[in-house]
Amino acid sequence: MQLALSTWQEVESYLTHSTGIIIPIGSTEQHGPNGLIGTDAICPTKIAAGIAEIEDILIAPTINYGMSHHHMAFTGTITLKPATLMRVVYDVVDSLYHHGFTHFYFLNGHGGNIAPVTSAFSDIYAGLSGAAVPPRCRLANWWRDDSIAALAEELYHGAEGHHATVSEVALSYYAYPDAVKQVAMTPDIAPSGDIYDAASFRRSFPDGRIGSNPSLARVEDGERFFHLAVDSLLKDYRNFLA
Ligand code: NI
Repeated sequence: MQLALSTWQEVESYLTHSTGIIIPIGSTEQHGPNGLIGTDAICPTKIAAGIAEIEDILIAPTINYGMSHHHMAFTGTITLKPATLMRVVYDVVDSLYHHGFTHFYFLNGHGGNIAPVTSAFSDIYAGLSGAAVPPRCRLANWWRDDSIAALAEELYHGAEGHHATVSEVALSYYAYPDAVKQVAMTPDIAPSGDIYDAASFRRSFPDGRIGSNPSLARVEDGERFFHLAVDSLLKDYRNFLA
């Protein structure tokens, strides 16, 4: 059930049997030579839609912007400052809490969001401490699931990488097969290393990839990652609400 496609009466009715909601969150940032700039938002949006096909769970509109400052040396990236993202997360939760939601499951597609989002959770808990029914928040990073990592290793043997990973590019291609891009890359596997500011990121990782060879990404593999993520995160969501 998509919040954006529901009426207010339908949301009121949903709240009589559940006060949980899934909020996909991603980013708008470069993903290397063949990765879509929307990758980090496309993946959790697709997974959340898959979860909602199995179970009657309300899905909020995706937060499409994230904390992507380190990608700003690549054209097309849009970033929120950490403090801005914290306020967005706070206000989304605060609005839904006002209506009676209590469990906020952020389905995340971007590592740069982890620190600001979990910091926002601390602000939310502090701000609403002492409430009769206090809010509960969880951040679920789909790519960190053991089943995802295991399949990536089985398929790509060390070419999965850390940014513009093969699995996320494959999953975004499964969501948008018409957007698949064939691009030659050199070297096959991109360099790895630490992330600092945007200029040093561009110097260290000239085509935007970190440690990956996303030319291996295939729609059919994306479908396998999708089903693994849906199964695993649906279980995690049920545990969160229990
Ligand atoms: Ni990504």
